[in-house]
Amino acid sequence: MNGNLRIKALPTEFYDQFLSERAKNLKPSPIRGLYPLEKQPGVISLLAGKPEPSTFPFTSLSFTAKDPTDGNTEITIAIPRNELTPGLQYSDTAGLPDLLKWITALQELSHGRKHGRNVSGEGEEGWRVSMGTGSQDMISKSATALINPGDSILVESPVYAGVIPIFRNMDCKQIEVPTDADGIRSTSLKEILENWPESQKRPKLLYTVPYGCNPTGMTASLERRKEVLRLARQYNFIILEDDPYYYLYCDKATRPASYFALEVTEPCGEETGKAYAEVGRVLRFDSLSKVLSAGLRIGFASGPEAILRRVDMLTANANLQVSSLTQLIAFRLLDFWGYDKFFLHTRNVSAFYKQKRDVFERELQKWLGGGAPEEGECDEGRLAEWVSPEAGMFFWFKLLVETSTEPSSPSLEEQDSRTLIETHAFANGVLALPGTVFLPNGSKTPYVRASFSLLDENQVIEAMKRLRKTVLEVRNLDSK
Ligand SMILES: Cc1ncc(COP(=O)(O)O)c(C=O)c1O
Repeated sequence: MNGNLRIKALPTEFYDQFLSERAKNLKPSPIRGLYPLEKQPGVISLLAGKPEPSTFPFTSLSFTAKDPTDGNTEITIAIPRNELTPGLQYSDTAGLPDLLKWITALQELSHGRKHGRNVSGEGEEGWRVSMGTGSQDMISKSATALINPGDSILVESPVYAGVIPIFRNMDCKQIEVPTDADGIRSTSLKEILENWPESQKRPKLLYTVPYGCNPTGMTASLERRKEVLRLARQYNFIILEDDPYYYLYCDKATRPASYFALEVTEPCGEETGKAYAEVGRVLRFDSLSKVLSAGLRIGFASGPEAILRRVDMLTANANLQVSSLTQLIAFRLLDFWGYDKFFLHTRNVSAFYKQKRDVFERELQKWLGGGAPEEGECDEGRLAEWVSPEAGMFFWFKLLVETSTEPSSPSLEEQDSRTLIETHAFANGVLALPGTVFLPNGSKTPYVRASFSLLDENQVIEAMKRLRKTVLEVRNLDSK
């Protein structure tokens, strides 16, 4: 963190140019909009139609969980009747206050952001947190709050398949920004922005998954991130930083800073002789799905108040709030652990996936990486190409179906993995995702996404044998 920088939060009016017409026309919920007044001391509220919790059958809740310091020890967390009430009752739209507070402090610790006044005490950084039913919910609502039909948005490509239908349903133009082993290609992004046609409205958003990207497994390098942020400031767009794999980073090198963190450390320029950083261009999405439980359905967005206010209004209309009970369970566990144990837990989880990744890669190398894996077999050469992921739970590999001696010959690029996976691999008893589902324009690709999160070693070996068999069969078919 650069303590010499003056932090300037973008003003509320700045977001008018980004908010969708629908978001601008949203009105606060007539009931939920008055909820904060209920908390005024001395007020007798006749406001909300809240049920009386004493009529509910649940009287207490107790669960056991792992102690991260020792994977074998279980701790018991008991929630007695009086403390269970917030979990049984309606709560605030943005989230259960205790959990919101815990998560806000987590963002401060993980990303060096100050929720209240900034480091130099010169005003607010202008961000807060809102809870969603998984980060998917927050991404979808943020897209609604920001995109008008006909808008152009920049999406890294390949992209998380779960956002393609969201953006498609918004009738916006998805401009693909290619990625490689170092994440999103900032030079391509620059080219797109520099050559943007005068007659067309400029893109207002960039969607990217910076750590252990789904599907490519790639983590964007620090240099790329800095350049992307610089371009966002120069060409005036907002970065949607979708980061559910943040805590699954397992590379030996120091983790590159998130976009949310870089906003306060990367200077924009100088004013009255002092360097300043402008903050408020990053809307960050986190998820508890990969580290606590996917079934809890808790994700959260951190970013400008002006956007999250609209997101909360969409929540108030659509589902009122995330389940209070799951928020309470998550809070009680996190509060019991504290931040040190939470970080220890996430390190344990990332070490678990690192070990899975290593086994997967070893077998991928053995069965598809070239050479004859078993005695008596012919050497068929390389059957796949990939780059080792530094986070997340995916391998993204190119199947080399053609027997060309030049693996990057244009004819290979034209190959599509869909039939190979859906027909031939499935017939051989192995499934993966054909890469085309991760391309917003649905173009062909020889790439495949394989998830290594659930398989044990024997399953990995068997899956790789079956994939090898499939590629060899298809090669033979092609040569006939
Ligand atoms: C990149 C990405 N974003 C968002 C999500 C949705 O996560 P959540 O369970 O928090 O809704 C996923 C889930 O796999 C994902 O891979």
